[in-house]
Amino acid sequence: MSFPVDDLRARFPAYRRTVDGEPVAYLDGPGGTQVPQAVIEAIDDYLRGGGSNVGGGFATSHVSEAVVADARSAMADLVGGRPDEIVFGPNMTTLTFAMSRAIARGWGPGDRVVVTGLDHDANITPWVMAAADRGAEVRFAELDPSVPTVDLDHLESLLDDRVRLVAVTHASNAFGTVVDVARVVRSAHRVGALVYVDGVHHTPHRLVDVGELGCDFYVCSGYKFFGPHVGVLWGRRDLLDEIDPYRVRPAPADPPGAFETGTLAFEALAGLSAAVDHLAGIAGAAVGDRRKAVVASMEAVASYERELSRRFLAGIASIEGVDLYGIDDPGGPRTPTFAIGVAGWTPSALAGELGRRGLFVWAGHYYAVEPMRRLGLLEDGGLVRIGFVHTTTSTEVDRLLEALGELAASRGAR
Ligand SMILES: Cc1ncc(COP(=O)(O)O)c(C=O)c1O
Repeated sequence: MSFPVDDLRARFPAYRRTVDGEPVAYLDGPGGTQVPQAVIEAIDDYLRGGGSNVGGGFATSHVSEAVVADARSAMADLVGGRPDEIVFGPNMTTLTFAMSRAIARGWGPGDRVVVTGLDHDANITPWVMAAADRGAEVRFAELDPSVPTVDLDHLESLLDDRVRLVAVTHASNAFGTVVDVARVVRSAHRVGALVYVDGVHHTPHRLVDVGELGCDFYVCSGYKFFGPHVGVLWGRRDLLDEIDPYRVRPAPADPPGAFETGTLAFEALAGLSAAVDHLAGIAGAAVGDRRKAVVASMEAVASYERELSRRFLAGIASIEGVDLYGIDDPGGPRTPTFAIGVAGWTPSALAGELGRRGLFVWAGHYYAVEPMRRLGLLEDGGLVRIGFVHTTTSTEVDRLLEALGELAASRGAR
């Protein structure tokens, strides 16, 4: 089956935006994605239908309850877990701060946490602060700068029975590298440590199967996978039962509700289910078993994105002055996210120039401060990040390559 990119794009109103008559190319998927019309309509329908909090004995309250239940079941299908293992929150960072504090209640001096030199700061600082509160120690699993990825041999050398938890990313939002999380889980579980996986960058690009990974927690964020701004945490049910979260007294005592402080964003949850249905529908089989549809769709997405990567990587290889920080094999363990430097250009000047041409890319460290520091790039303004998604076209890739070729040749702003 050829990938139906034109049909899929037609579902996104944001693709109608232009700059100087040229269509906008959204090439910063890792920073946030656009949403299909179905997501907008689901949010709109919820708000127009009359909203209410859950737990009331009347129709609109039942509607909100159904919206929450549907969203739990949609997210369970997206990550391969169970609906009663899905926790919602404002975003991944807030969920991780809350979960780290709850988990750390059981830590004390002598305990250790392992974080990595590859991760986004949202999967580092919450653990560092939670450990500091409890007098526990933090160890960094080093970056292998040649890829860049986590040096898994180093990570494993840090594991012993003092380690209570390993926090690791499934894919880097800076370089696109996919980490062998299943290996981390096997090693961490051998010493009795839990594994908390940041799946924010992985979720829009590749199939997530928490059962196969064997991890204990997996977090992602709706606005990175074509949905609204809502954070999602999957946690092993027995652990959610065990952990005592910070919550107000009248709130539900049982998970997942016990972990959801305050009132949920019901309209966002309605949109979230529609985003999962969008993903499930890519391979054309949204009806029936949605998990199976997700599996087929994410395989199709991965293979289409690999083609985009192949085109982009072949293109930049022939542009003098472009340096790629990441895996140059499109078939390697990577998403279609590329961090580059261009000789003669600061990252922000280059991103600004591309933006004026309607090519929206990001510049800086994108909160991946630890890897940027380790690569010696933090003080120099980081790198330019280009991130494709399943609605990116080969025409957009070519437009970007042409602009990069021109700008690299002109060596403009220093
Ligand atoms: C890899 C990764 N982890 C975590 C986050 C934080 O997610 P949120 O914005 O939902 O807090 C981001 C956001 O950029 C990210 O890219």
